[in-house]
Amino acid sequence: MAYTVSKLKDYSASAMEKSVADCIRACAIEAASVHNDAELKIFRDRWMARKNGILTQINDLWLKGAPKDAKREAGIRVNELKARIQKIIEGAKVSRADSASAAAERVDISLPGIRRPIGAEHPVVKTTNEMVRVFQKLGYSVAEGPVVETDYYNFESLNFPPNHPARDTQDTLFIAGQQSKPQRERLLLRTHTSPVQIRTMEKRRPPLRIVIPGVVHRNDPPDASHSPMFHQIEGLAVDTNITFGDLKGTLDHAMKEFFGSSVKTSFRPSFFPFTEPSAEMYVSCFICGGSGRRGNDPCRPCKQTGWIEILGCGMVDPNVFEFVKDNGYDPRNVSGFAFGMGADRIALLKYGVDDLQLFFNGDVRFLRQFS
Ligand code: PHE
Repeated sequence: MAYTVSKLKDYSASAMEKSVADCIRACAIEAASVHNDAELKIFRDRWMARKNGILTQINDLWLKGAPKDAKREAGIRVNELKARIQKIIEGAKVSRADSASAAAERVDISLPGIRRPIGAEHPVVKTTNEMVRVFQKLGYSVAEGPVVETDYYNFESLNFPPNHPARDTQDTLFIAGQQSKPQRERLLLRTHTSPVQIRTMEKRRPPLRIVIPGVVHRNDPPDASHSPMFHQIEGLAVDTNITFGDLKGTLDHAMKEFFGSSVKTSFRPSFFPFTEPSAEMYVSCFICGGSGRRGNDPCRPCKQTGWIEILGCGMVDPNVFEFVKDNGYDPRNVSGFAFGMGADRIALLKYGVDDLQLFFNGDVRFLRQFS
């Protein structure tokens, strides 16, 4: 039978002692049968609730009804009783350690830990890292620069004539509200990683060998082979007596390291304002082996030519060195070569992906294939 509070008829010491003892015993028994949080709450409320909890009832029934001469004694006993009951109720929390729900919560330290998946390296990042590594092995160090760049570093110091088409709003994403600044200070999203050539030459004296990975932007609508945001890997080597032979030897070696020792390289004349002479470098198609065919089918990645365009390169234009002449780059004393390639395009070819957008729309099902 559940414990209920009844009026005290007898306020003698022994009768009060017995009532107190009965109450404590009842509370202790109930405390021992609390098994979970819900039961604990019910138990607590039953005893402690201000409104009509057992302790409140004891207050009302035992104290208020006490005859004058027993009031003091009854008050002391009820206070002691409350303290005991409170202890039991607090203890009930602790005794839950034995309950079923506590057993469920208990930590089994012999179980394996919770594995947090760390995700996979994005194919473009992976390609970039692999390419950077090839050049690091040749003694190149990594240099980086800001994505929001000034007109000076993106164009002027790279020998872009004022009306060169690459400055055109067709290609370049300009930051708004720059009109009040002189042209060279106006901000834009860099259209290539080449500004880091100048930035690094301002800081470090020759000889210099750097590889520059980074994000670039151009005002191209997204499609299967274009994105307004993409990635480049740039390189720059400056020293005394660097020749076009060094350029060819370095890039040929790097492509064999990256794509496999059987690829061949081919250099064809091209134009960049900051290199002279300039070239486009092709590698023999590593998909069809240079034949232009895959069995009876035409090889699509190389458009049946057997060659794939990989990068732009050339000897650093003396006009570029003029901008950093005071830091040891007098074009009469030093020469150098530079190159720049699109990391996304290389990743597309390498992994046989046919839509560039897949790299950027964050579909885990696509990315998971590279883990
Ligand atoms: N910056 C050039 C581009 O984005 C590539 C390049 C880099 C060409 C270095 C020559 C030398 O197209």
